[in-house]
Amino acid sequence: MFPSINPTTTQAWEKLSQHYAQLKDTHLKDLFAQDPTRFETFSVTFENILLDYSKNRITEETRQLLVQLAQECGLQDAIEAMFTGEKINFTENRSVLHVALRNQSNTPILEDGQDVMPEVNRVLAQVEQFSNAILSGAWKGYTGQSIDTIVNIGIGGSDLGPVMVTEALKAYQKPNITTYFVSNVDGTHIAETLKKINPETTLFMIASKTFTTQETMTNAHSARSWFLENAQDEEHIKKHFVALSTNATAVAEFGIDTQNMFAFWDWVGGRYSLWSAIGLSIACTVGYENFKELLAGAHAMDNHFRKAPLEENLPVILALLGIWYNNFFGAESHALLPYDQYMHRFAAYFQQGDMESNGKYVDRNGQPVNYQTGPIIWGEPGTNGQHAFYQLIHQGTKLIPCDFLAPAISHNPIGDHHPKLMANFFAQTEALMNGKDEAQVIDEMHRLSCSEEEIQTLKAFKIFEGNRPTNSILFKQLDPRTLGSLIAMYEHKIFVQGVIWNVYSFDQWGVELGKQLAKKILPELTSAEEVTSHDSSTNGLINQFKAFRK
Ligand code: F6P
Repeated sequence: MFPSINPTTTQAWEKLSQHYAQLKDTHLKDLFAQDPTRFETFSVTFENILLDYSKNRITEETRQLLVQLAQECGLQDAIEAMFTGEKINFTENRSVLHVALRNQSNTPILEDGQDVMPEVNRVLAQVEQFSNAILSGAWKGYTGQSIDTIVNIGIGGSDLGPVMVTEALKAYQKPNITTYFVSNVDGTHIAETLKKINPETTLFMIASKTFTTQETMTNAHSARSWFLENAQDEEHIKKHFVALSTNATAVAEFGIDTQNMFAFWDWVGGRYSLWSAIGLSIACTVGYENFKELLAGAHAMDNHFRKAPLEENLPVILALLGIWYNNFFGAESHALLPYDQYMHRFAAYFQQGDMESNGKYVDRNGQPVNYQTGPIIWGEPGTNGQHAFYQLIHQGTKLIPCDFLAPAISHNPIGDHHPKLMANFFAQTEALMNGKDEAQVIDEMHRLSCSEEEIQTLKAFKIFEGNRPTNSILFKQLDPRTLGSLIAMYEHKIFVQGVIWNVYSFDQWGVELGKQLAKKILPELTSAEEVTSHDSSTNGLINQFKAFRK
């Protein structure tokens, strides 16, 4: 196991603190003016992906110190520990091997001394066969019709990944299939979906690692009842329900034939599971060949992450920049801003990926940390966000490091839409960096024939201080391989940050307390008595809820 180190006790941290004090008032504009080769110095390519990180508040010294920090925290050992199946998910005593799911080179990966690849390949073959049968029309429903609708029922990692990827790869969607995702326990979600579908041609995928999650099991039972109201005979379930799970016993108890179960393993974390059987909805929507390309892109990024020197390593660079802002500049959030409508769920996906992984205040020694850990992740596609929250990014009081992502080639090259989109993409990072100073504002107002009085009254509001850091991630086209690489890049970024922050990134105990309390409260909502077992606020709310429903 790699060492557990409080990052603030490293030499690099000390040096970074001093370096921050020297650099914090330096403007990005000046850094660019001083070095005409800054773009070349601070950009790196991987296949068809360019990461330009030159618009960050860093110098060569910053980069070196951040890399030193990673080294002092044992990053290289940690990477090897993950790839070689060490039980780095300590609190659950599990290996963390989502990299095995996309290990297209098929080299052995050991978990407890056993190669996991034969099982991974067996399930992949099952996914291939099944998705082909669905998409070719060979799989028939209970009235002999082919399947034209998929409903994936899952939540969290059993939902967000497939949702994000099927949306991102809509340009690759097969014409004869429609895919819906139901996640929320709010009955509206399943009810509105059931209104649109035909039981004779629908396949339900019950996606749950544990097969015990309240939301998923409630939705699954409602879907089952609805289906049986139509199909009448329980025998028909096997043609219309499949399970994606690690829990064969619970799958059988639900009434799904375990022949129709697509397995995965406890070394696959929920939020890292889209590459596993949880990706069945992806394969059935865009075709197995595209699913495979997605895996191949992720695998290529895995190899890069494992082998590239730290200073040329995309996930490592992104992670270190995040630490620079989070721990030295005091930034609290990080925005993901894809300039691609197909990627409209990308930020939502990495809200779980990042915040469930690194949103922790206890370190790997079980002690509260004395430094900041995971940031708040948020974002929406450009250019929509520009007309919503960019005001705060440009002129607010908070420093918000942003990743701008965009494809050079659009899948929908209508008129001049894409050049317009991209002009905005380039303009935003330039504006955030340079800002607009007082002299520029005055000059502009003069040219608009504003009076001196107007200029004096309004100029302060029109000044942009700039110096707002951004990464630009420009890629050729949003194809399955590139998407796979981008997702894996961010997964590994999260891993690197978790190592440096010295937290366990692959457990999620913080979601348990709410689940436990909800279980306790559920029977109280239907009992006749007044509820008195909680604090006065919770009692008051529950009792008013019951009163409203009388
Ligand atoms: O929200 C907690 C969580 O355990 C996530 O980590 C997970 O992705 C989600 O619930 C769903 O879990 P399951 O796949 O077991 O239904």
